[in-house]
Order: sequence, then structure tokens, then C-alpha cells
Amino acid sequence: MAYRDLNEFISDLEKKGELLHIKEPVSPYLEITEITDRVCKEHGPALLFENVRGYNIPVLTNAFGSYRRMCLALGVNRLEEIGEEIDHFFQAEAPDSLIKKLKLIPKLKRLSNVFPKLVKKAPCQEVVLMDREVDLGKFPILHCWPKDGGPFITLPLVFTKHPITGVRNVGMYRLQVYDKNTTGMHWHPHKGGAQHYRVSERLGKRLEVAVAIGPDPATTYAATAPLPEDMDEILFSGFIRNEPVEMVRCITIDHEVPAHSQIVLEGYVEPYERRLEGPFGDHTGYYSLPDEYPVFHITCITHRKDLIYPATIVGRPPMEDCYMAKATERIFLPLIKKQLPEIIDINLPIEGVFHNLALVSIDKRYPGHAKKVMHALWGLGQMMFTKIIIVFDKEVDVQNISEALWRLGNNIDPKRDIIFSEGPVDALDHAAPQPLFGSKMGIDATRKWKEEGFKRQWPDVVEMDKEIKEKIDHLWKKLF
Ligand SMILES: Cc1cc2nc3c(=O)[nH]c(=O)nc-3n(C[C@H](O)[C@H](O)[C@H](O)COP(=O)(O)O)c2cc1C
Repeated sequence: MAYRDLNEFISDLEKKGELLHIKEPVSPYLEITEITDRVCKEHGPALLFENVRGYNIPVLTNAFGSYRRMCLALGVNRLEEIGEEIDHFFQAEAPDSLIKKLKLIPKLKRLSNVFPKLVKKAPCQEVVLMDREVDLGKFPILHCWPKDGGPFITLPLVFTKHPITGVRNVGMYRLQVYDKNTTGMHWHPHKGGAQHYRVSERLGKRLEVAVAIGPDPATTYAATAPLPEDMDEILFSGFIRNEPVEMVRCITIDHEVPAHSQIVLEGYVEPYERRLEGPFGDHTGYYSLPDEYPVFHITCITHRKDLIYPATIVGRPPMEDCYMAKATERIFLPLIKKQLPEIIDINLPIEGVFHNLALVSIDKRYPGHAKKVMHALWGLGQMMFTKIIIVFDKEVDVQNISEALWRLGNNIDPKRDIIFSEGPVDALDHAAPQPLFGSKMGIDATRKWKEEGFKRQWPDVVEMDKEIKEKIDHLWKKLF
């Protein structure tokens, strides 16, 4: 059973010993960050701050901050399960026998759960604040790091609709609070929300935006998932949950939002309006620099009577968002393999903050294959941001950094095996010569073939004979 809402998730974390209540008074200005950061670095529990100075609303952090909690959030035992289920789901087979037809029933049921259910009454609309009552200052929004430009809403689900097709996008884009009813809208130019805004600017039309904070955990994760454009994150959440997401119509705008959210902000962004956003202590571990972004005007706030304000602290890894990104790595691997079946595994090490480094193992089948894979990944969705891609042979365990470094150093001739390309870089990349556009490096760490012009003999890896290993295995217990 999927969690109906964040509250059910928190109760379950509590039962499973994954939640720490903090009753000491703490400030939302830097103090919650310092505590959360220390806990993240020790791979500690989710934190519920019950006594936030100046507010009577508890703050939740680090709820997704471990593999176990990430699995709980998504209702699985292993993160790989969702990718495997998607893979299984798309394995179409003509049902030419009764047994095959019967086997389709669970698939059809799963499909029926994908679609959201519209409800009339929703917890997220228990309290409605309009006009002059709209005031973000009522919520314990965190000022995370000392040099941040202000307080930021760090776990928002931003809902937009394509102004022509009406297709929905949900993305997680941080919101810098400017005053009681305006925030920054930090969608990077490559993202779904930014594309909807681009179209609305071309049409000279205001874009309505809804922001949901703290729905059920699978839906929060879905907003971070790199889905193809025009694929609805709410359907994706329904698939993960294997239960429909209950949605309710917004009060002042033409949007539906998850009915069980804690808070919903309703409003709009005006075409061509920009304001300085940032700096913000970001998930690279550096401050992202101030830049011009659109402005979100809030016309209505709805929320639960007894609400919990969920937030995440990003910063130098490991942090909570690393586990969300690791979920993405595992869930999307089978989908990447659909297009690039030669890929065995991908590791985006958390220190590489996901866009800086990818370790990829492949079943090398022809000369230049490693380079083909690099270029293909640079052309694939948000993998386009990857600054360094290192490709290994299939026997290399890319999850084992020690093995990967050993193979890398031994197997490359830098002049021959390193290629440079150019393209879009993540908006958070501060080293590129200019924002958004820079270079990428691919390293072919596979064994080199004579068809690739390698004239020398490639040596074997030092390994013991199988029979000797087995013999010593038997002896082992007697030796120690
Ligand atoms: C905690 C967190 C904060 C994020 N903040 C931003 C952000 O401010 N701007 C942005 O463009 N992407 C941000 N992202 C990444 C996007 O949510 C992610 O790229 C997502 O796939 C975007 O959805 P879209 O493809 O529908 O635009 C954040 C991710 C996480 C986990």
C-alpha cells in the first residue's frame, strides 16, 4: 500500500526507527541546516523539528536521506524494482492463449492505477488564504546557508501546463522567497517548466503555476525524475505507487494538485519579468551564483490545518538529495538500456553530484563502441549534462570505485583515449567558460582492439587459477 500522505510516511519512519524528534528550540535561520548537515554526514535519521522558533509548524528534513528511507518512500525493497517493473510492463506479447490473457490482468490493473483520481474535498484546502492573507512569512521556510540570498522553499513541486497543448509538467525547482507573495522561479532553461514559460512568453501570455509542498513521498520524488518531455509526473507517481494519486482542483487557477499535500501555492509568472535569484548553497557544495530568473506571484495559499513543513538541505555531498538521485540512476537504467542495450551498468558517484561524472560499463561489440556510447549518453535527456563519462568493459564493476580507478589508470593512453566534446552543461556548473555551455570529456577505459589500431599485445589481468581457488577455499577454514 502506498502512503496516502506525508503524515503516513512520517508515522512509518517513526515505527521503523528512522525518525528523530527534535524538541529543543531551533531557528529556521541556519540552525536547522547545521543540525541536518551533521546528521546527513553521519547517514543519520529523518529529523522532525517540533519547536521551530517563531512558528508552531514542525519542520521535516532528511526524510529521503538513506537508501532504506528512499525505498520506503517508493514502496519497494530495492530501488531497481521500479525500473524492472517498467521494463516488464513494456514487454508486450500478443496474448494468444488464455494463460497469456490472464497474465495481462495485473498489467491492466497497474495501468488503471496510473491515472490520477479527481476528488472534491482535499486536506490541502482545509485552510484557504486569499488576497491580503497570502503571506509566506507564516511558514518556517529555511534560510539554509550563510551567503544564501534569502529563505528558499527547497522541496516544491512546480506544476505548469503547456500553453498550447495543455500537457502538464511537474518539476522540482527551488523558490527563493522575496516577500510575502513573490518568489523566484528557478527552473533551469533546459527543464520542462522553462519550456512552458518560453511558449507562454512567445504568446505574450501569463503562465499559471501551482506549487505543491509535501504530498505523498512518491509524488515528491516523481517531480525530480528526468522524464521525457510531455510525460506526466503524476502518472509516473501513480505507476510507482500502484495506486492513483488523488488530485484536487486549485481554487483560483486551472490546475490540479495532489489533494494530500501539506501546502499549495497558486499563482502565475508574467512573461518577460525577471529578478535576481540566488546565491544559494547548492548541491554541488558551492554557492550557485545569482542570476536572472522569472518571478512567481502567489494569489492564493491553501494548506492543512495541522501541517508539517518538509524541506531539504542541499550542500556538499552526501546530502538527502543524493539518495533521490541514486533512485533515479537505478530506476532509469533499464530505460536507458532499452535504447543502448550494450550498457551493463552506470554509476553516478555522489561526489560527482550526478552531472559531473558517470562510470559506465558496456558489452563492447565493435571498434569505437565506447565513444559511440559517450555520444549517445550526451544526447539522452538530462544525461546531456554529464561532464565526464568514463567507459569500461563489461567485467568492470563500476559500483566499485576502487576497481574503476584501477582499471582507468591502467587502460588508457590519455592522448588516444580521451575525447572532448561541447554542449549544454548544467546551470549549476561554475567552471564552464560561460553559463549553460561548455565542454565534456569522454574517457575510453575499455581494452583496446587491433581493429582500433592497437598493435601491441593486451596483457591479462593477474588472477589465480579456478582449481587452486577452489582448493584453497576448502583449506581456508583450517588455516585460520
Ligand atoms: C532537492 C532538489 C532541488 C532541485 N532544484 C532544482 C532547481 O532549482 N532548478 C532546476 O531546474 N532543477 C532542480 N532540480 C532538478 C529537477 O527537479 C530535475 O531536473 C527534474 O527532472 C526536472 O523536471 P522536468 O524535467 O520536468 O523539468 C532539483 C532536484 C532536487 C532533488
